[in-house]
Amino acid sequence: MNFQDLTLFKESIKQGIPSVLPPAKPYSADANRAPKRKDILSVDEKQLAVRNALRYFPKEWHQELAIEFAQELKDFGRIYMYRFKPSYHMKARSIADYPAKCEQAAAIMLMVENNLDPAVAQHPEELITYGGNGAVFQNWAQYLLAMKYLSEMEGDQTLHLYSGHPMGLFPSSEDAPRVVVTNGMMIPNYSQPDDWEKFNALGVTQYGQMTAGSFMYIGPQGIVHGTTITVMNAFRKVLAAGESPQGKIFLTAGLGGMSGAQPKAGNIANCVTVCAEINANAATKRHQQGWVDELIDNMDELVARVKAAQANKEVVSIAYIGNIVDVWENFYEKEIYIHLGSDQTSLHNPWSGGYYPVDISYEESNRLIREEPDVFKEKVQSTLKRHADAVNKHTARGTYFFDYGNAFLLEASRAGGDVMAENGIDFKYPSYVQDILGPMCFDYGFGPFRWVCASGKSEDLDKTDAIAAKVLKKIMQESPEEIQQQMQDNITWIEDAKQNKLVVGSQARILYADAQGRMEIAKAFNDAINNGDIGPVVLGRDHHDVSGTDSPFRETSNIYDGSRFTADMAIHNVIGDSFRGATWVSIHNGGGVGWGEVVNGGFGMLLDGSAAAERRLKSMLLFDVNNGIARRSWARNEEANFAIKREMARTPKLKVTLANLVEDDVLNKLSF
Ligand SMILES: NC(=O)c1ccc[n+]([C@@H]2O[C@H](COP(=O)([O-])OP(=O)(O)OC[C@H]3O[C@@H](n4cnc5c(N)ncnc54)[C@H](O)[C@@H]3O)[C@@H](O)[C@H]2O)c1
Repeated sequence: MNFQDLTLFKESIKQGIPSVLPPAKPYSADANRAPKRKDILSVDEKQLAVRNALRYFPKEWHQELAIEFAQELKDFGRIYMYRFKPSYHMKARSIADYPAKCEQAAAIMLMVENNLDPAVAQHPEELITYGGNGAVFQNWAQYLLAMKYLSEMEGDQTLHLYSGHPMGLFPSSEDAPRVVVTNGMMIPNYSQPDDWEKFNALGVTQYGQMTAGSFMYIGPQGIVHGTTITVMNAFRKVLAAGESPQGKIFLTAGLGGMSGAQPKAGNIANCVTVCAEINANAATKRHQQGWVDELIDNMDELVARVKAAQANKEVVSIAYIGNIVDVWENFYEKEIYIHLGSDQTSLHNPWSGGYYPVDISYEESNRLIREEPDVFKEKVQSTLKRHADAVNKHTARGTYFFDYGNAFLLEASRAGGDVMAENGIDFKYPSYVQDILGPMCFDYGFGPFRWVCASGKSEDLDKTDAIAAKVLKKIMQESPEEIQQQMQDNITWIEDAKQNKLVVGSQARILYADAQGRMEIAKAFNDAINNGDIGPVVLGRDHHDVSGTDSPFRETSNIYDGSRFTADMAIHNVIGDSFRGATWVSIHNGGGVGWGEVVNGGFGMLLDGSAAAERRLKSMLLFDVNNGIARRSWARNEEANFAIKREMARTPKLKVTLANLVEDDVLNKLSF
């Protein structure tokens, strides 16, 4: 960026809401726009929504803006205040380019802008980063004000953000977080999906998803890593020790936002991935982006190609343009053995295009959604039953099937599909967290740790990759048998990360690591910053982690003591992180599985090479991981019990309450 552009950018940030009313902007349908939201407010409530929006602006503008905002509400179901979107290019710049009085505030600005970068964000005009509704702010006034506050902030002030609304800068201390974020926190009884529609339309809350509203999104890289870990470990469950996944089939569906990572993950895990995608555009886009190797739209051709890939023990990913149910059924008939099966269609949203029925065209389905929603619903439900039957036939032959947190089993069961276990309460098949991520990763403390090189230099990212690999190799030499495999997987991941070309937006890297790994890597980064080898680094993690998220059907689905419907862990985590040195903290209602279904939180921490940063990283990362391990251990999870005892041996000041196990006999004798 040239000097003049940089000066204008800085001035624009410092100004916040402009002093002169900017001209109205023409609506461009070219951009990837958020779907029009429900018209849910009464006339009085619509007035209230406009009144709420106008409080960001001086009285002289109210006449003009009131008409415009009422029109936005009518056209889009929300007031985004489009005309206030700044004209500079939104992207993660170098930390040195932000107008800030403290470096921590500049780091947060960089992360905010990354989440709104059009190359990263799903609907950038509507301030949505991912997941259709994962908002960074509710409207452009909130963005402008928050950035202005950050530019004015000193090292002993804290900005409080209420679902995107900057309530203000409050005096605090140097060790306090610079920003406290809450998103969608509701009185529990007001947490139904329509409550989000209503209160978001009023402009008083937002759905922050996980890393959207907490400024910690790093593009598709995060999903690729998590999916790779899942596919790799799923193969380990079904193959003999040392047996290679080459030529073995992973059958799944979906080449959309997150699901599009499956073929790339399958390639990294060394298998044959067959991924059905009903939307030819989505499949072609993923193929052009290099995320899937081959594109096939004919079933006979697919069968022949897959048989060849099996015979030649290939590593290849194949997109089939068509319905997933056809693939399951045809592969059964043609006796193609599937080692792993899953599904990542958007069944959290079954009635408006998340899942397409079999035997009708994509276009006809879209017509039914708009014109005959009841007929569409019936077709989805009968397809789900067929889908479940086909999966059952394969699992009877030995296929390992798991739910990928997309509500496949839930919706199949609601449709009357044969997916319930004999007890009538559980499903026949596990979720990916119950069987894989929970016991193999989260319970040991391994989770999606990440960092961003705030200099914006790719050389810094290369150096941090090398530092992380060196630290992990050293730790692995002394690691117990139980976690050797995880350590090796993460070393392989970080060594191959650059060649897998995963960076989109900021210079970021994800790496599954446990508490010891995260702390030692962070300390090594801080030393390298202190030595002048690299610039400042922002640490963080996905909320989808050991301790940050209470979600009974996903992150905490492998908690069996009845507490998976509680949210104490996530709340303790955010409070605990906030006074141990996080630069910013966040806590959200909703994320992944839906509003009201999950409470999740995260943090960001700037490493600047100082002794204070070293003190903070040691204190906060230890708690951030071990809080969840302690809870998982109290829930009698064996792996977590092992991990927390190990941590207590290493950390004398850590004293965790351990569960006494009860013999079944004692309970079986009881009469109630
Ligand atoms: N990847 C992860 O780590 C992860 C974790 C938890 C949950 N999920 C869940 O996975 C789901 C998918 O997420 P996404 O962002 O990719 O959604 P998306 O809507 O962008 O993609 C889903 C794709 O499935 C396709 N599809 C729908 N019905 C189909 C059918 N019958 N046959 C073939 N293709 C079909 C759609 O055309 C679409 O492209 C969501 O429910 C999400 O919550 C993913």
